[in-house]
Amino acid sequence: MKGVLLAGGTGSRLHPLTRITNKHLLPIYDRPMINWGIEALVNAGITEIMLVTGGTHAGEFLRLLGNGHEFGIDRLSYGYQERPGGIAEALGLAARFVDGDPVLVMLADNIVENSIRPMVEAFRADPHGARILLTPVEEDEHLRHLGVPTFDEEGRIVGIVEKPEHPASKFGVTGIYCYDADVFDVIPTLVPSGRGELEITDVNNHYIAQGAMAYDVLEGFWGDAGESIDAYYAVNDFVRRNGANKD
Ligand code: G1P
Repeated sequence: MKGVLLAGGTGSRLHPLTRITNKHLLPIYDRPMINWGIEALVNAGITEIMLVTGGTHAGEFLRLLGNGHEFGIDRLSYGYQERPGGIAEALGLAARFVDGDPVLVMLADNIVENSIRPMVEAFRADPHGARILLTPVEEDEHLRHLGVPTFDEEGRIVGIVEKPEHPASKFGVTGIYCYDADVFDVIPTLVPSGRGELEITDVNNHYIAQGAMAYDVLEGFWGDAGESIDAYYAVNDFVRRNGANKD
């Protein structure tokens, strides 16, 4: 299984901090944000990784991570997104790197308390379709910033709405996804959303329509450190006290 870490975007929700660097290079406790994503993948046994970034600070990732060996990565590739075209577009840049294998995709601003290994193991055991990670979220105001799933009576996901005005459940879709190689046939069929991006939620809805979507519910803390300045500090406080990616 290969890994794709997405570390692009303009980081506009963290302006002005992100006028002078890439969001994923900002500190989370004692290291740059991107290091936590690398650790999450390596701890789950994924050691062939492509990091996709963009914007003006791409070179800093190379200085920070080099060939990745220091972090337990076997093979580290880099991709460059020329414009902020969305998560799904960024993933599309990894097609040749992934080369037909199952792939774990992680937004590098997502920080988890507990290891993602169980989800990765589940997908390794049945590497077909898609598998996503949900997190319980109580507040509607928070859910309005996320992808939110709707379930049928058997607990299957029947659809995901991106940033819904009226959230249909109390679960958010985290930025951690497993896909089979068909994902690279789905991406070219997408049309840009209202925010001008190719949405990962549209990829997920494609798999749901095929009846090929599984999910896990994450235990423990999850945070999107890029969601807002307050979320960034909440994630920092949590990781400082409790750590992250724990087995
Ligand atoms: C993205 C996804 C959204 C998901 C979120 C998790 O949102 O589009 O479905 O819930 O990541 O971090 P974005 O950060 O692009 O607004």
